Amino acid sequence: MIPFSAEPTQTLGSTGGRCMYAQVDRLREEGPAVPVRLPEGVGAWSVTRGDVVRRLLTHPGVTRNLKKNVPSYRPGSVPWLAPWVDVDSMATAEGKDHARLRKLITPAFSPRRVDAMHGRLDTLVSRLLDDLAGRPGDEVVDLHAAYSYRVPTEMICDLFGVPGSQRPEVLRLFRAVGQTDVSEVESIAVNDALVAEMRSLITTKRDEPGEDLTSFLLAAHEEDGEEAGEEYREGAGEGGRVAAGEQQPLTEHELISTLLLMIGGGSTTTINLIDHTVRELLTHPDQLKTVMADPGRWSDAVEESMRVHCPVMHLPMRWAVEDIDLGEGVLIRAGDAILICYGAHGRDPAVHADPGTFDIDRASKEHIAFGLGAHFCPGSRLARLEAQVALPALFERFPRLELAVAPDEIEPVPTFIGNGIGSLPVYLRH
Ligand code: HEM
Repeated sequence: MIPFSAEPTQTLGSTGGRCMYAQVDRLREEGPAVPVRLPEGVGAWSVTRGDVVRRLLTHPGVTRNLKKNVPSYRPGSVPWLAPWVDVDSMATAEGKDHARLRKLITPAFSPRRVDAMHGRLDTLVSRLLDDLAGRPGDEVVDLHAAYSYRVPTEMICDLFGVPGSQRPEVLRLFRAVGQTDVSEVESIAVNDALVAEMRSLITTKRDEPGEDLTSFLLAAHEEDGEEAGEEYREGAGEGGRVAAGEQQPLTEHELISTLLLMIGGGSTTTINLIDHTVRELLTHPDQLKTVMADPGRWSDAVEESMRVHCPVMHLPMRWAVEDIDLGEGVLIRAGDAILICYGAHGRDPAVHADPGTFDIDRASKEHIAFGLGAHFCPGSRLARLEAQVALPALFERFPRLELAVAPDEIEPVPTFIGNGIGSLPVYLRH
């Protein structure tokens, strides 16, 4: 079991959406960290104040590695937590181990490489919009499934260099991985099938390397160290200094867990970003008009969307490796779990006035949607590019697009981890 020094006074609801925001607001008022109960009796300190989120994301006494730092933990003992903490990937590594894994992927997300994906994104988006244009304008279309979902998942296939013949099955499995209403047996079967597809992809790329991330990771140890190092520092991100790592090739196990991490990290997150921004713009026609008149304002819409509706609310999890005194009588003990709310900073009234209101004109749209510190999201540039290409193209093609239900009837995915919606019913009205 996982030890926890405090007595949780409340359960963190797996509600998603507005209910999650309301709970986060209440927790923020209670203290700099509040002990909460998570599924299967796991206790954690919920952190929902913007300044404390910043402090703990960059605190040297906080780690993402549970296995190394909490000796009593037995891998597999908490099934819901296992996919987050039992895997050995850069997300659970720290220090030199983290730097080594991160160094190998960072060049693939350099500004030059991401900008080079623009053309491919334009083509993909046009194809998806052509498909939508074939549907009757007065039919209710689920834009989440038909568009928001498809842009990031197809782009991951591109990033990995998944060949056309393998794509339908890989995309089917991406969809299955994202489903929350499946049994444990089904989810293990899907994961096994995805690992098999990744193995097959690796074999293909060993025989025929291409200009893609999989080939790049296979050959990573042969990369020009200087260039990789330069781009790597660029990608380390705001506030993030990553420890110096060694340049060793990835093992096949590491390669597969890196690809799986990228699928998890790069799909649902960006899908949520596109969904939330579409919904907000459709419910704020004046702001939609502004961005349509001035394409330079799309980045304001995307950043404001991430501030108000952070695509990832929490990620399980971090652990204290030393006692941390947060003041106001709150002492996090070494070994305690810490659940940082990425979405809390953007919605903190101490940081932003009227934080729940979507307003692309507000002066500061500061948010921590991509994290902070050594684990800062390496895919942030790609995610922003995807949104900034997919959104204007959608509204240009369907200028009379409208929601087919009231905004508060759009159901959130019931989880405290991601921040997504199950479907986005619209009329295309073309
Ligand atoms: C890490 C959010 C898109 C790959 C993270 C973290 C956050 C995040 C909050 C930090 C986790 C931590 O604190 O430990 C997002 C959001 C996205 C997005 C909101 C879209 C709107 C992407 C994309 C990719 C990606 C497109 C790749 C295709 C990763 C990876 C990590 C990560 C590999 C782990 C980095 C590490 O542990 O060093 N992301 N992400 N993400 N993200 Fe993203």
